[in-house]
Amino acid sequence: MSGSAPAADIRGMFDRIAGRYDLANRILSAGVDRFWRHQAITTLLDGLGDSPTTLDLGAGTLDGAIAILRRRPSARVCAADFARNMLVAGTRKPAAAAVAAQVADAHALPYQDRVFDAAFSAFCVRNLRDRELALRELRRVVRPGGRVVILEFFRPRRPRLFWDGIYNAHVLPLLGRAVTGDAAAYRYLPASIAAFVVREEFEARMRAAGFAKVSGRELFPGGVAALVVAE
Ligand SMILES: C[S@@+](CC[C@H](N)C(=O)[O-])C[C@H]1O[C@@H](n2cnc3c(N)ncnc32)[C@H](O)[C@@H]1O
Repeated sequence: MSGSAPAADIRGMFDRIAGRYDLANRILSAGVDRFWRHQAITTLLDGLGDSPTTLDLGAGTLDGAIAILRRRPSARVCAADFARNMLVAGTRKPAAAAVAAQVADAHALPYQDRVFDAAFSAFCVRNLRDRELALRELRRVVRPGGRVVILEFFRPRRPRLFWDGIYNAHVLPLLGRAVTGDAAAYRYLPASIAAFVVREEFEARMRAAGFAKVSGRELFPGGVAALVVAE
């Protein structure tokens, strides 16, 4: 599967690996994915009060939604993802009981205008078929002045010998296949990073989608994961 695979293929891929997705994440990132989500959610919730209404877009197995609830137990947390099996794996987690999970496509969100104080999306936007449309949908459902935090693997500005030449190209597909049994999914991951935009380009697209204030920062040396924050 290439870095710009059709939506049905991407959905099918996540549905296939759903049962082993969390384990693969922990192993492939050596647990650092939790730290990245923690950082992103700290930024998301900063100054939002005790009970914000939040969306986790491309919520997968609900780790982000659960992390929001842990930090703000009285928040209202909605989670949207188009891969049903990912959400089903997430809703089996006891901590996800209060999450309102819904099968939904980021290009046509089933929410009213301006209902969310904040939206979070981790490792989803790289997979979108029509990024502009999906960003406008995000803009639509978040209230004016509300915050959007995107956590992603953006395309690096310069090729990185270790991450691109060794880890992503060789180690990740082998480990991903060993854990999930799905070689294609873990070849798709580095291919989708290589086919994605650099962070600054994504920030420009957020501005074009109507977000007035957009900034970004790297979360790891070498820019492996980064945040884009928009309001
Ligand atoms: C790499 S996973 C990330 C899951 C979760 N956010 C996390 O941090 O572990 C990407 C998720 O985005 C979802 N996704 C991709 N394209 C989507 C779309 N068009 N609409 C909704 N969800 C989508 C996939 O089904 C998958 O669950």
